Amino acid sequence: MGEHELRLLAADEATTKAVGAALARILVPGDLVGLAGDLGAGKTRLVQGALAALGVREPVISPTFMLVREYEGDLPANHVDAYRLAGATELEDLGVEEVFTPDAVVFVEWVDRVLAALPESWLELVLQTRPDEVRELVVRPHGPAWQARYEQLEAALGPFTGSMAHPDPFPDAG
Ligand SMILES: Nc1ncnc2c1ncn2[C@@H]1O[C@H](COP(=O)(O)OP(=O)(O)OP(=O)(O)O)[C@@H](O)[C@H]1O
Ligand SMILES: [Mg+2]
Repeated sequence: MGEHELRLLAADEATTKAVGAALARILVPGDLVGLAGDLGAGKTRLVQGALAALGVREPVISPTFMLVREYEGDLPANHVDAYRLAGATELEDLGVEEVFTPDAVVFVEWVDRVLAALPESWLELVLQTRPDEVRELVVRPHGPAWQARYEQLEAALGPFTGSMAHPDPFPDAG
């Protein structure tokens, strides 16, 4: 584990949503995407982009005061915000097996607060805000399910890797 990771850049809010949408295209029920990063790093924006791509038509708001919101798009999707949780035990008391169901794609904001409640395989996304407001994202697969899908992940998120660090050297070609 930790052998592979992807580093992405998102220059603006729309790009952060596009990262979520690109990721959503390879998600299947039972997948858990955990997001970490400071207040305002863009966790909810990324989930909004993902849920829109999953066909959720209703507005996606931060579930901070509700803890979990359940959506029905093309797939069922659960959106958890662990910000106000004391820790994994509190999530377990709320019925972790229902929230982390194999029937839904699950997104967890502030995942670092509930690490002990996570399944073996999950996808970690860490967002960091640079002084210029660009977001740096580190994508880290955990467990056998994601190790097996690393190439798929790389293909889906490839367009966002280092696109700003390595601008097209031949912008006028072809
Ligand atoms: N490159 C960017 N990507 C994402 N959001 C950006 C970017 N640049 C500026 N923003 C702004 O940063 C904010 C991100 O808010 P968002 O609610 O997604 O963060 P969050 O990580 O979910 O915060 P919280 O910890 O409060 O849940 C928005 O106001 C958005 O407009
Ligand atoms: Mg949020």
